[in-house]
Amino acid sequence: MANSDTTFKTATRLVHSGRQTRYTQHGVNPVIQRASSLIFDTLNDKKQATIQRANGSLFYGRRGTLTHFALQDAMCDLEGGAGCYLFPCGAAAVTNTILAFVKSGDHLLMSGAVYEPTQDFCNHVLSRLNVETSYYDPLIGAEIAALVRPNTRVLFLESPSSLTMEVPDISSIVRAVRAVNPEIVIMIDNTWSGGLLFKALQQDIDISIQAGTKYLVGHSDAMIGTAVANARCWDQLRENAYLMGQMVDADTAYVTARGLRTLGIRLQQHHKSSLKIAEWLVQRQEVHAVFHPALPSCPGHAFFKRDFSGSSGLFSFELKQKLNQQQLDAFFNHFQLFTMAYSWGGFESLILHNQPEEIAKIRPNISRKLEGTLIRVHIGLEDCDDLIADLQAGFERINALA
Ligand SMILES: Cc1ncc(COP(=O)(O)O)c(C=O)c1O
Repeated sequence: MANSDTTFKTATRLVHSGRQTRYTQHGVNPVIQRASSLIFDTLNDKKQATIQRANGSLFYGRRGTLTHFALQDAMCDLEGGAGCYLFPCGAAAVTNTILAFVKSGDHLLMSGAVYEPTQDFCNHVLSRLNVETSYYDPLIGAEIAALVRPNTRVLFLESPSSLTMEVPDISSIVRAVRAVNPEIVIMIDNTWSGGLLFKALQQDIDISIQAGTKYLVGHSDAMIGTAVANARCWDQLRENAYLMGQMVDADTAYVTARGLRTLGIRLQQHHKSSLKIAEWLVQRQEVHAVFHPALPSCPGHAFFKRDFSGSSGLFSFELKQKLNQQQLDAFFNHFQLFTMAYSWGGFESLILHNQPEEIAKIRPNISRKLEGTLIRVHIGLEDCDDLIADLQAGFERINALA
């Protein structure tokens, strides 16, 4: 499907994108072309490939093969970009996309509730390169204009925030920053939406980054990062990431493209099930508040309703009390279906917790404070009633201790 073809709806595009016959060689799926060396038959072929090396020509493995090009095309089609760079994981996509646009003496505006390793990168790596980071409250809105400095080069957004799930007023933030300096490069960690539920590039954001490890792959068995850029930023992102040696193997590119085929229906089910479980949690007397973007109790819910076409499966809730170790053991160690793991976005349900002081420690720059234990769940594709029964048994184990 050509990138310019806008006549088809998302479900159709998910099935057909990145399937030009050049990539599939008349199969349904792209070929898996594993290669470092790509052979030129003549000097002229070599010359042409060198000239076209950034434009989908077979040149050298680190520039990609037919398998990579198929996925890159599909991602550009889905997110509406001029180009898509593929990275070995989401963290590499985040860090290399920032690095492509900053130099010593620059300033970066970063959400204060962003994924913790992104903050760590700013605090420990960018600081060494003399790039200064200011953290803003994700609910700041248009007031962010006051934080823009003459040397501000990048605005980094994430929606919803990691763990605490605030949904920023993206259009106010973007408009305010552009009004001060239209040249600032605006990028977003768009992992939660799978690139489908929130159309970042349509909101005047330059680059949409995803830990494709989560929803794109969808099966918890591969790691990849993607960054889809508009025409203004594509060349600079591509050439910098290439110089940094960023690449993913062809097999991972293949399983990611395969994941895209079911992304739409998986997200629909994640939406339905996570909302049903969130609504069930609202009724539980142990729960203080549920931070599911589709519920009014989530900070920034109005912006979610305005900007997103649905929700995915990851949300959190705060308990009325801070659980002690005995209660934590009783709750977390005996689930039949929920398992504990640091990722999310796969077909399976996951659960993790953070105590309020742990959240405060990684959110030193924002005023919102929690008092009870925060529990983050990823609702997978299991039957909802089974998942609810599993959570209910967990609450009963805590209550039996009282
Ligand atoms: C929001 C977000 N961004 C980026 C990442 C990093 O992705 P990866 O683990 O593929 O490096 C994660 C991983 O959990 C994440 O949750």
